[in-house]
Amino acid sequence: MSTDVLLPEYAERLIRDRRSVRAFRPDPVPDDVLRAVFSLAGAAPSNTNTQPWSIEVVSGAARDALSEALLAAHARGALSTDFPYSADLYTGVHADRRRAFGATMYSALGIARDDHAARDAYQTDSLRFYGAPHVALLFLPSNAEARMAADLGMYGQTLLLALAAYGIASCPQGLLSFYADTVRDHLGVRDRKLLFGVSFGYQNPDAPGSAVVTGRAALEETTRFHQ
Ligand SMILES: Cc1cc2nc3c(=O)[nH]c(=O)nc-3n(C[C@H](O)[C@H](O)[C@H](O)COP(=O)(O)O)c2cc1C
Repeated sequence: MSTDVLLPEYAERLIRDRRSVRAFRPDPVPDDVLRAVFSLAGAAPSNTNTQPWSIEVVSGAARDALSEALLAAHARGALSTDFPYSADLYTGVHADRRRAFGATMYSALGIARDDHAARDAYQTDSLRFYGAPHVALLFLPSNAEARMAADLGMYGQTLLLALAAYGIASCPQGLLSFYADTVRDHLGVRDRKLLFGVSFGYQNPDAPGSAVVTGRAALEETTRFHQ
C-alpha cells in the first residue's frame, strides 16, 4: 500500500463527507465513468475471494420502466422480500438511533410526524429513485445467507466510496428489496436474491432534504481496544 502522506487526509474527506443524497439532477453519468466506478467497486474484499455479488445497473428508458413497475407494485401492495425484515430487529440504542434518524430526515424534508399524505408521497419518490438517472440492484446467489450478505456489504460501501470519489452522489435503498419479485421479473433475473439497491447520479443541492446530515456514535460506544 502507498505511504503517500496525503492518503489519510483523502480518506478522512472521502469517507466522512459521503452522505446519502435523496435529490438528483437528471443528467446521466458518462459510460466510461460508470465502467470505472463499477470496476473499482469490484475491488472489494470477500470471503475466500468468492465475490458472490452480481449487479444490475439500470439507466435511461430501462430505469423509467423499472420505476413504473415498482410504483405499480407499491399501489397493489405487492411486497416480496428475499431477506426477512421487521422493525423489531432494532431494539435498545439501535431503535433509539433509528427513531432519531427518522425525525432528522422528516424535519429536513419539512414533513410533520402526523402528515401521512406527505410521508406517502416521500415513499413514492423513493421508488422514483429520488430522481436519480441510474440505479444499481445488488444481488447474491439464491442460497445466500448472512455470511454472503457481509460480502455484499463490503461491495456496497466500496461502491458508495468509488462513486463519491468520482463526484457522484448516491443513496443505498433497502426499500427496493421489498419488491424483489418485481425487480427480478422486470430485469429478467432468475435464481438470485436482492439485498438492496443504490440510486446514484449528480446531486441536486437545491432540493429540501437533499443531503441529511447524520451523526455517529462516539468511538467509545462502539469500539473497545484490548491490549
Ligand atoms: C443497507 C442500507 C439500506 C438503506 N436503505 C435506505 C432506504 O431504503 N431509504 C433511504 O432513504 N435510506 C436508506 N439508507 C441510508 C441510511 O439511512 C443512511 O446511510 C444513514 O442514515 C446514515 O446516513 P449517511 O449515509 O448520509 O451517512 C440505507 C443505508 C444502508 C447502508
